[in-house]
Amino acid sequence: MKYDFDKLIDRRNTGSTKWAVKRVFGHDDVLPLWVADMDFEVAEPIVEAIRKRAEHPVFGYTEPGDSLLEAIIDRMERKYAWKIKPEWILFTPGVVAAVNAAVKAFAEPGHYVVIQSPVYPPFWTAVTNNSCIVASNPLKFSGNRYEMDFRDLASQVENKNARLMILCSPHNPVGRVWTKEELETLGEIIIGKGGIVVSDEIHGEIIFKGHKHIPFASISDDFAKRSVVCIAASKTFNVPGLQTSVVIIPDEELRGRFNRARAGIMGSPGIFGFAALEAAFRYGDEWLEQVLDYIEANVDFTLEYLREKIPEIKAVKPEGTYLLWLDCRSLGMDCRGLSEFFRERARVGLNDGYTFGPEGEGFMRLNVGCPRSILEEALRRIERAVKEKVGRS
Ligand SMILES: Cc1ncc(COP(=O)(O)O)c(C=O)c1O
Repeated sequence: MKYDFDKLIDRRNTGSTKWAVKRVFGHDDVLPLWVADMDFEVAEPIVEAIRKRAEHPVFGYTEPGDSLLEAIIDRMERKYAWKIKPEWILFTPGVVAAVNAAVKAFAEPGHYVVIQSPVYPPFWTAVTNNSCIVASNPLKFSGNRYEMDFRDLASQVENKNARLMILCSPHNPVGRVWTKEELETLGEIIIGKGGIVVSDEIHGEIIFKGHKHIPFASISDDFAKRSVVCIAASKTFNVPGLQTSVVIIPDEELRGRFNRARAGIMGSPGIFGFAALEAAFRYGDEWLEQVLDYIEANVDFTLEYLREKIPEIKAVKPEGTYLLWLDCRSLGMDCRGLSEFFRERARVGLNDGYTFGPEGEGFMRLNVGCPRSILEEALRRIERAVKEKVGRS
């Protein structure tokens, strides 16, 4: 089946967070390209699975069945040649919830937890929510991509006794798909010191040509014993509103600690989330192939547009994710000014870079998961506002 991602779908008044523009940005006419969901119709097999489940008239408490476990196991094997066991699989109502539970499980109050700034804002709060302290290991920009600073990482581990790291793989917002060598080096530093890596791989299937995602725990048995891998169908298949994610913990002792940390405060995902996840993993690939082509074309289109018409804003091509990390520093505005500029002058709703950490100051995050016409209109608005600001015609 051929999907039409150019189709405009009116999401206003559907409870969509992304499109709650009046509440979030203060105006009805702001075009939203912020929170990470896409304005595309979901794959037909997912809709069909939900419809079919809805036809059964009882919506009682629900467990993940064997066939869902099989679908997850098959997918990990098929995509990554990673053999996982059914007992390793846990379910949580979202990856953010899982990351918070993991910090509670694996770090004590007052401990340092490593994250790599600029990074998805809930990583910061997952640390502080649990009375831990952020050990920031900022990424370094090498001129054409962001890289990890291993020397600094080793010193965080050494000097701050940090024994837990939350890894964003692929990385939101900088769009890196970490290589095997990078992951190995990172693992040697953290796991070599007896630490644990919580790897948030929610963007792991939104990968562009020429790059390959590697689940952290799949690298070696030693890594598997000391890691927690969080995945979901939510970003890949555009179903984040179903609040369903999968946490894979190969080690029994770590699994027990995770389960005790979440006990009584975090339930299971719901009926429709399970149905959607299984359908996505079993039958979603036709849609996924098409959407990846569309997203990559949107990325290329945006980069070309910036180069030609808005050279004041710079970005490098991400290796994965549908997020572009826009370097707006040459506009010379402080955080508040930049935020206001996009919202009030350009009338587009982006994520403020500073919310990703101090290294995000002067940046904005743009979500290209939308029909080309919306993206084009947003870029036109930004172009107009920038020209006005810098006095260029
Ligand atoms: C890296 C990362 N983790 C987690 C999430 C959200 O996960 P969930 O909705 O499953 O809590 C996002 C959403 O943007 C994300 O980018």
